[in-house]
Amino acid sequence: MAMKPPIRVAVTGAAGQIGYALLFRIASGAMFGADQPVILQLIEAPFEKAMKALEGVAMELDDCAFPLLKGIVQTDKPEVGFKDANWCLLIGAKPRGPGMERADLLKDNGKIFIGQGQIIDAVAAADARVAVVGNPANTNCMIAASQAKRLPAERFTAMVRLDQNRAQTQLAKKAGVDLTAVKDIFIYGNHSPSMFPSFAHATINGKPATSVITDTAWLQGPFCETVGKRGAAIIAARGASSAASAANALVDHVRSLVTPGAVHSIAVKSNGAYGFDANVWAGMPVRTTTPGSYEVITGYAMDDFAKSKLAATNKELVEERAFVADMIK
Ligand code: NAD
Ligand code: LMR
Repeated sequence: MAMKPPIRVAVTGAAGQIGYALLFRIASGAMFGADQPVILQLIEAPFEKAMKALEGVAMELDDCAFPLLKGIVQTDKPEVGFKDANWCLLIGAKPRGPGMERADLLKDNGKIFIGQGQIIDAVAAADARVAVVGNPANTNCMIAASQAKRLPAERFTAMVRLDQNRAQTQLAKKAGVDLTAVKDIFIYGNHSPSMFPSFAHATINGKPATSVITDTAWLQGPFCETVGKRGAAIIAARGASSAASAANALVDHVRSLVTPGAVHSIAVKSNGAYGFDANVWAGMPVRTTTPGSYEVITGYAMDDFAKSKLAATNKELVEERAFVADMIK
């Protein structure tokens, strides 16, 4: 197979849990394909412990002898890590501490994403794409994008693919079918319990999911709740937030974004579609057009139940934006 020239992939929080589950898959070709060499530009917080852990991860990457891995940069300086990056995967974020209010978390992380947004805009490659995972992912993405003067806002996306994957599995289990029978299940709104997994447009073996799963009360209640609160359930069970499944979802998010024709959920800048406030970053269905670019699929009709769910998740996104409004002016 003819090899392409290497692309540069910057990853923040590279020595964290998600980073550890992600980097080996990028280097093996799962994210960009078996003919796409990569240079990993790994960015950590400027602490000795974090940088030491990063050194260990880089040693392990070396020890895998991945043919596609053409270089590893280890740095605590974002201006070095984002330099000429074609993809910037923003995973590093401050976790919510005991007694910390959501508004405090938003402000603390806001500072990180303002700085990173400015530096990416200044030093990343002309074709740079940004995918945000660090929570609160939608609003962090909006904050980073707000700092960009060179890169268009559409290049900044946040991850709701984990929620889509969770929803797909829940529908398959309920219907007693293979996972691959479930299609067109999309996530709308915030990556938080308010998100809306829009079951009405999903199909199972080509039929409307609602004609296969006729228990509307389950779809509107336990299904939405299980998907929305899955992250918390994993924290309760594992004692730490989802990492392998989050890394897997980021592989899916980027892989779908570089695959023309792929139809999938990502959080993007709203232009008012589905009633989302303009300029919040909301999960919605998109179709990849050319590698890295997409169009929002706007044609899905929403019933009253869906409209109330969309309004609730939009309200939360608008509130999050209000918390950080003074930072993004
Ligand atoms: P983690 O604490 O294991 O790792 C985070 C890493 O980020 C740490 O190594 C830390 O040193 C680093 N970091 C912190 N600030 C940084 C900065 N300014 N620059 C570079 N690195 C920095 O956490 P994790 O389990 O890997 O999760 C990371 C984030 O992803 C969290 O915010 C978590 O809530 C979020 N998350 C999102 C989803 C999603 O679906 N969107 C799913 C799971 C987790
Ligand atoms: C998840 O959905 O698993 C995470 O976003 C949960 C969290 O708060 O880290």
